[in-house]
Order: sequence, then C-alpha cells, then structure tokens
Amino acid sequence: MSGDEKNEYALVSARFSALWAALGQAPAGEARRLTIDRLRDALDRGHSRLAPHAPDLIANSFSVDEIVYASERTLVMKLRHRDLGTAHALKTLPPDRRDDVVLRQWLLHEGRLAGALENPNIVAIRATLRLADGRPALLSDWMPATLSQCLRERAFAASKIAGIMRSLFSALGYLHAEGIVHGDISPANLLFADEDCRCLKIADFGLALRQEELHQDLDMARGAHPDFAAPEQLGGARPEPRSDLYACGRILHELVERSDAGGVELPKLSALAEQLMQPDPADRPHDTMAAAALLEDQCRSCDL
Ligand SMILES: Nc1ncnc2c1ncn2[C@@H]1O[C@H](COP(=O)(O)OP(=O)(O)OP(=O)(O)O)[C@@H](O)[C@H]1O
Ligand SMILES: [Mg+2]
Repeated sequence: MSGDEKNEYALVSARFSALWAALGQAPAGEARRLTIDRLRDALDRGHSRLAPHAPDLIANSFSVDEIVYASERTLVMKLRHRDLGTAHALKTLPPDRRDDVVLRQWLLHEGRLAGALENPNIVAIRATLRLADGRPALLSDWMPATLSQCLRERAFAASKIAGIMRSLFSALGYLHAEGIVHGDISPANLLFADEDCRCLKIADFGLALRQEELHQDLDMARGAHPDFAAPEQLGGARPEPRSDLYACGRILHELVERSDAGGVELPKLSALAEQLMQPDPADRPHDTMAAAALLEDQCRSCDL
C-alpha cells in the first residue's frame, strides 16, 4: 500500500470509528438495527460503483472467497453466504464468454436438468442465478474435496472403495431410472461432502442427456474425459447407461491400483472393474442394478 493510500485508509478508519461511537450512543432497539441495515445496504450498493474490477458480491447475498476452477468454458467460485456464513459453489462462464450463446444454453441446460434431481449422492443445484452481467450461474453446496484430489493424497482401504462404489451405483441407478445418462463420470466430477471422503456425490451434469436428447441437437462441442469415456462414446456414439458403467470400471480400477492393500490384494474388486470396462457394452453388466449386485457378491466373499 502506498503512503497516500495509507493516509486515506486512516481517514476512513477514523470516520468509521466516529460512526461506530455514534451508533453506540443511540438507544439500542429497532431504530438502531434499521440504521445498521441501511448503512450496510448503502455500502453494498456503493461498492460496485467504487470498485473498478468485477463485483465480488453475488445476488447481494454471497461474497466470493476464491476462484477454484477456471477453464476456457467454465469458472467455479467458492462463495460464502454473508448472513449465514455457509459455503457454496457457483459454476458460471468466464466473464469474457458472457455473450457466448452456446455456452449459456449449455449451462442453462445443466441447471434445468440437474436442478430437478434429488438424490443424496448427487450434488444438488440449489438455484440457477442470473448474474448482474447476464451470465447464468449454478449455485450448489460447497464440497470440500474431489475424488481426484483424494486419489492423489491418500490410499483407500478396501471398505472405503466398496463404499465409494456403492454410492456411485446408487446415484447412477437413480439417474438411469430417470432416463438420464451422465456421460462424464470421472474423478474430477465426483465430489465429497466431507473432509474424510465418506459421502460421495456426483457433480457436473454438463454432458448429461435425457433419453430423447442428442448432443448434436444441442450443438454440443466438447467430449467426456478421454481416460474415462467408454470406447463407443469416443467413437462418436450416443452415450448410454452402460457407458457410465464403463467409467465406473475405470474409477474402480484406479481405486484398486491405489488402495492401501495394493492392487494385487483385491482380486475380486479388480475382476469387477474388468467386467465393467469391457469394450463392448453388451459384455458389461446389463444395468446399474446388476453392477451393484455384483459388487455386493464380491464384497460378501471378502467380508467387506
Ligand atoms: N459444489 C462444488 N464444491 C466444490 N468444488 C466444486 C463444486 N462444483 C465444482 N467444483 C470444482 O470445480 C471443478 C469444475 O467443475 P465442473 O466439473 O462442474 O466443470 P466442468 O464442466 O468440468 O468444466 P469444463 O467446462 O472446463 O469442462 C470440479 O472438478 C471441482 O473441482
Ligand atoms: Mg467437470
């Protein structure tokens, strides 16, 4: 901070102290509470005029803690509710893409589709907001970890792996029964609601499709993560529920490889991963229920 700036802030702080002292002398009660509310609103309204950069308040209710993810198409911020103190995530477009009609349409599609889902293992979209500059933005609860982070930082016990796969199959079972294919199951899109990686939730419905929709119809340009997408998907075919099962197989494979027992110690889970990763969808388990039943068989036989 320059010397001039320091002087200005000293002045602001002296005036703030005077304001604070005056408020302290006013009788406590409704009038004082109202005055405080009005002052706060006046500061909120004035701030965007004072700040030359992007406003850091969203819907006047959330302050921006940090940008947690930025790509060509997507910006994800961590927000804090100003009154409740709760943490949230906001997914929107980068500011310089605010007029990109296709990106806006896709984010709204995601909001519409994911906003209607209700499942304990799916990240709930709490609201689809319109930012002051017109960008759509999806508000969800803050999830402290992703599976990709956890895979980098720790090895999972076999029981934890079984728990992760149970949650995954349970959410996919619900989704497929709703006629929706996720199409982009990957460790970066699997989030945990707790630091201990116990409660797994599927996120990122940016590529999800209802049965009657086609990516081409929606002018879809991007593809799923190449390490997890099923061969038929990479070949340009419409993803189907068993494409999601293929991605589950890749995830199970990674979890087993990095388990605290070492991959070789978990042959039953490795065998299930192989079944899920069959190149021909017809050779994979028929559906999510069948995959979940196989998981339970394998877990029973090794006391998990
Ligand atoms: N609710 C949330 N809580 C915490 N972090 C989140 C949340 N939602 C998203 N993120 C973080 O932001 C990242 C990107 O979000 P998301 O997967 O929805 O975007 P994307 O569609 O993959 O972006 P791109 O357009 O670049 O492919 C996630 O991998 C995760 O790290
Ligand atoms: Mg993603």
